[in-house]
Amino acid sequence: MRKNIVAGNWKMNKNLQEGIALAKELNEALAADKPNCDVVICTPFIHLASVTPIVDSAVIGVGAENCADKVSGAYTGEVSAEMVASTGAQYVILGHSERRAYYGETVEILEEKVKLALANNLKPIFCIGEVLEEREANKQNEVVAAQMASVFSLSAEDFGKVILAYEPVWAIGTGKTATPEQAQEIHAYIRSLVAEKYGQEVADNTSILYGGSCKPSNAKELFANPDVDGGLIGGAALQVADFKGIIDAFK
Ligand code: PGA
Repeated sequence: MRKNIVAGNWKMNKNLQEGIALAKELNEALAADKPNCDVVICTPFIHLASVTPIVDSAVIGVGAENCADKVSGAYTGEVSAEMVASTGAQYVILGHSERRAYYGETVEILEEKVKLALANNLKPIFCIGEVLEEREANKQNEVVAAQMASVFSLSAEDFGKVILAYEPVWAIGTGKTATPEQAQEIHAYIRSLVAEKYGQEVADNTSILYGGSCKPSNAKELFANPDVDGGLIGGAALQVADFKGIIDAFK
């Protein structure tokens, strides 16, 4: 059966020393009180090699927030999936709405990134979600269906390694959360797309996380939905008390 996962997305926050301190504090908190779900922290590239040896890999997985769409070579400033994996990281967020909106990441670019991540044994946390105008026009289903094209060219075996994260853009960092009903409705729809493509068993084994202003006070009711298998957490992942509060929603 699918896993429940709480993943943190640090975004462009925390310098190296602050990031190490945060990882240590989280590791201690979860050593003292073991989580009932998988926990992942996705950090800026420069933190990865320092953070992976600090955390107990049996309790906390580490991931990047992006990787290149090319294997290697003359791509100044880029970081490849192989480089990410060489730090000991096991996950990579791909397709975050901030990458799509500010860095022009298209369905095709993301398809390349997903393939390179998988070729390097990284598990993609693949993000999809609509902007406010699309939600207001009731177009959220078509939007997420179109975004899924980046992962629907994978074999069923490879797709089985992908974690999905539904993140309505209007809920990210805004304090506006999708209602549990809105989350359940679209998560069930996303799972039905997976079932149509790969069959019910693959769909039932796919973890679909919710992201967008998730916090300790709303995590429990969001995660209680049958098709919501955890969260991708931005702001609330930057303090151990908040992040652990969300992890504890599974207790
Ligand atoms: P937020 O971000 O929790 O700060 O809304 C979520 C995300 O962007 O992954």
